[in-house]
Amino acid sequence: LSSVEVDVAALEPGMSLTVKWRGKPVFVRNRTPQEIEAAQAVKLEELKDPLARNANIGSDAPATDVDRSAGEGKENWLVMVGVCTHLGCIPLGQQGDFGGWFCPCHGSHYDTAGRIRKGPAPENMAVPTFEFISDTKIRIG
Ligand code: FES
Repeated sequence: LSSVEVDVAALEPGMSLTVKWRGKPVFVRNRTPQEIEAAQAVKLEELKDPLARNANIGSDAPATDVDRSAGEGKENWLVMVGVCTHLGCIPLGQQGDFGGWFCPCHGSHYDTAGRIRKGPAPENMAVPTFEFISDTKIRIG
């Protein structure tokens, strides 16, 4: 299947789920206000990878928190391919120095917007093409 529908109705803030899409895990997280605030407070100059890497917007869009998220009004939703951009391991959620994801393979730390902050990974985790098809349903791909 090239696209997959995900029901997110049961995901309270602070909860995530992982779905498989095109053979890869996709993390869907309903971020807490604290996680959003932490990511919004980061200046773009502090980022190792300044690009949003979000397939839904322009390829030159900067890696602001809103452009990493599902967008204005849906900033709590983070949908991204759960594959470390270093050598492809699957990072662990809510771990690492920035409270986002940590890849134990070689120590890459991602923040609460899935942006690489420390370690060997070169890029932010990729945001796949997706859209909300209802208030509680996302179609990925
Ligand atoms: Fe994640 Fe190397 S594969 S740090």
